[in-house]
Amino acid sequence: MSTQPGPPTAHPHRPHRPRILTGDTPTHTGLHLGHFVGSLENRLRLQDEYDCYFLIANVHAFTTLADKPELVRANTIGIVKDWLAVGLDPEKSTFVLQSEVPAIAELTFLFAMLLPFNKVMRNPTLKTEIDSKGLGDSYSFGFPMYAVGQCADILAFRPELVPVGEDQEAHIEMCRDVALKFNQMYCAVGNRVPAEEHAKAGTPGASGVFPVPKAKIGRVARLVGLDGVQKMSKSLGNAIFLYDSEKDVQKKVNKIVTGRASSTSPIDPKNTLVQYIDAFLPGERAEQIKADYASGKEVMDGHVKAELAAAINAIIDPMRKRREKLESPEGEARVIEVIRRGVKKANVVAEETLLMTKRAMRIEFGERRLDFPG
Ligand code: TRP
Repeated sequence: MSTQPGPPTAHPHRPHRPRILTGDTPTHTGLHLGHFVGSLENRLRLQDEYDCYFLIANVHAFTTLADKPELVRANTIGIVKDWLAVGLDPEKSTFVLQSEVPAIAELTFLFAMLLPFNKVMRNPTLKTEIDSKGLGDSYSFGFPMYAVGQCADILAFRPELVPVGEDQEAHIEMCRDVALKFNQMYCAVGNRVPAEEHAKAGTPGASGVFPVPKAKIGRVARLVGLDGVQKMSKSLGNAIFLYDSEKDVQKKVNKIVTGRASSTSPIDPKNTLVQYIDAFLPGERAEQIKADYASGKEVMDGHVKAELAAAINAIIDPMRKRREKLESPEGEARVIEVIRRGVKKANVVAEETLLMTKRAMRIEFGERRLDFPG
């Protein structure tokens, strides 16, 4: 047997699997196909190869829902159900509840000093959110602060990869800035050391604390909604949800407008149906259908839509079934149990990171231990 360190293998208990962190904010529940191809699918695939941490950003939910604690709580439980239903596996991965990991809050304050205020305020993801949520200029101090908090969410787990949707890229970039600056300022990593080498760089005994994590964007960065215009989104009413019934999926797919004059007319290659064929049918089959459409031979949209709906139903059928099972008192109890176990595991890693961080910053004066009984 080789003892050479190789690429990560699909062994769930391999001790040194590289880490991943990603998360969702429980401002709403209700996952749809856009979430699936944009991020969930990556998480599912990567959870065998990587040591995964999936974070429920329930503290961040208060940036826009400060007056609705019950809703945030219900959504928190809803998100965990969603994840379990999709197939994220708490036996392989760790579910992290942000509010119960104190190191994240502590790191947020420390990292806030490494980011120029005006740079945070120029973060394009924050700006878009201020517009789309109509926050005007009355948002709380905590709202832009969440972007700093997200750096702490990530770095607390020292991951290599952060699988996210494309809207989160600006946040990951800020997180990379924090890691680079921290390593240079407190860990003697030279200014010219490339980001990938930070974790190993530095003089002996003063190596970089943080690997500089990379964003990993999903296979389909922006899935168009059923309206063919906007991005798929719950609030726009153009989504196919992961728990829609088989019939609803078929009905929704049937409504896609192809805009063809007849069954032999060409189809616009940017049409929603074509985009979904690419996203959800196997590659070869997708190419064949597109070639048929282009060749001018007769293609019945109804047949293509039936095939597409069947493919989508094949993806979501097991999710729908698992979700139904979770809608019970036992399901609820399972969720609480998963959260508690995740909190314990997450705090071990996050506390270790906090200790390293405090040592590097020379603010550590004796080890602090958090005990989580049960
Ligand atoms: N801001 C992310 C969103 O709303 C959720 C999130 C919080 C996150 N912390 C994170 C994502 C850390 C990735 C990594 O979708």
